[in-house]
Amino acid sequence: MTDRSAATNDKAEANTILTPEQTAHAHAVFTSKCADCHELKQPGRYTVKKWSKVLPDMSRKAKLSNDDAQLLKTWVMANAKAG
Ligand code: HEC
Repeated sequence: MTDRSAATNDKAEANTILTPEQTAHAHAVFTSKCADCHELKQPGRYTVKKWSKVLPDMSRKAKLSNDDAQLLKTWVMANAKAG
């Protein structure tokens, strides 16, 4: 009757926030802009709390547009480590 799955893990949640195109774009921005100065630091390595401290600085360092920074933030937070 409904196509809404009972599973409510982080990935399912991310998919309700971002379209597949937005997810693909966020991932492309992440892999192309976030590994210039250090190795790629995957979203799941850090909690939302840690990311909210670090990500604004990093988006500035990576010279992301406001749109890309916003999209990346949504994607990273949706895939961040639990806790
Ligand atoms: C211009 C260089 C530069 C770019 C581009 C950059 N970073 Fe960083 N990043 C640093 C530096 C310097 C540090 C602090 C030292 C370290 O942990 O490597 C850091 C630290 C971090 C940390 C914290 C690691 C920790 O253990 O505290 C995370 C997470 C991170 N960056 C993610 C990102 C993401 C995501 C992007 C893309 C939006 C990005 N970085 C782009 C230079 C950069």
